[in-house]
Amino acid sequence: MARILDGGNPGHIAQAADALAAGRLVAFPTETVYGLGADAGQDAAVAGIFAAKGRPANHPLIVHVPNAASALTLARAIPPAAQRLMDAFWPGPLTVIVPRRDGVATAAAGGQDTLGLRCPAHPVAQALLQACAERGLIGLAAPSANQFGRVSPTTAAHVAGEFGDDVLVLDGGACPVGIESTIIDCSRGRAVLLRPGTHTRAQIEAALGEPLHDRDAQAPRASGMLASHYAPRAKVRLMSADVLQTALEVLGAGVDGVALYSRSVRPPRGMLHRAMPDDAARAAQELFAVLRDLDARGVRLIWVESPPPGPEWDGVRDRLTRAAA
Ligand code: TXA
Ligand code: MG
Repeated sequence: MARILDGGNPGHIAQAADALAAGRLVAFPTETVYGLGADAGQDAAVAGIFAAKGRPANHPLIVHVPNAASALTLARAIPPAAQRLMDAFWPGPLTVIVPRRDGVATAAAGGQDTLGLRCPAHPVAQALLQACAERGLIGLAAPSANQFGRVSPTTAAHVAGEFGDDVLVLDGGACPVGIESTIIDCSRGRAVLLRPGTHTRAQIEAALGEPLHDRDAQAPRASGMLASHYAPRAKVRLMSADVLQTALEVLGAGVDGVALYSRSVRPPRGMLHRAMPDDAARAAQELFAVLRDLDARGVRLIWVESPPPGPEWDGVRDRLTRAAA
């Protein structure tokens, strides 16, 4: 189990920053999910992230910075679209992909000539990034702090279970957003949505002042974009309320190892059930914790009622679709 430190304790923040400066891995809370951090300036430390996660080394990592000014030391240029997004949404749960400065954060970029940059708003992440900046670190490379392909962690306990005791975890409580940041590629002339988060397309386009494009075949490789990702151990089936209702009637209540995660569909007596909140932000906040909890109960199948069609549900729908793939 990884060792847990108190994210609210300045001495523990200093200890975590010292460990990062020494090339060690520290998991930390952000408003979205917990990240597994290393000094983006030390390629050997960054290699430790790929090893700990079992993640292919050519999958690029997001570099976290304390403010927009520090983005300038990592980017070759900040395209106007990226600047507008940073102005509108930083600090916050949004990542911009920008051209990378030559020779900077090479391992973190996984061989790409671009870099994903994010300035998190979470107070513990901010305190850690400030302490790292005081020690001369350029930023923290950090993917979600889970084993490759698994559900992202939203509590320190989730993280501790994923890694050995050479990893430190700063505990900042449950992540308030709950699903990973919105990612927008601004490196190729037009803004392209690589991963939906909690911002709606309308909010993003209002900040951009131009259309947001969908990914196409030329979009860069990104593990979070694999069709099957964010998967719990149990098999997830995503169904409309009608189909789900019929499935429950056909199978009855006696099915072993099946759990239900639904809004309008009521569980048959005796079936393990979690109620999906009617509010999209609340549903996002608890989504990964629910999947992990059902996994921990040894459930074989999770039947999920499809989220409503509204744009505020895009992020949750995306994660559930991938979990079911
Ligand atoms: O909310 C988040 O973004 C969390 C917290 C910890 O910040 N981080 C996170 O990292 O979700 P990760 O590595 O699990 O997902 C980041 C995604 C990956 O799919 C990665 O391939 C993509 O971002 N990515 C990173 N840099 C990229 C780049 N230069 N070009 C294209 N995609 C990139
Ligand atoms: Mg991830």
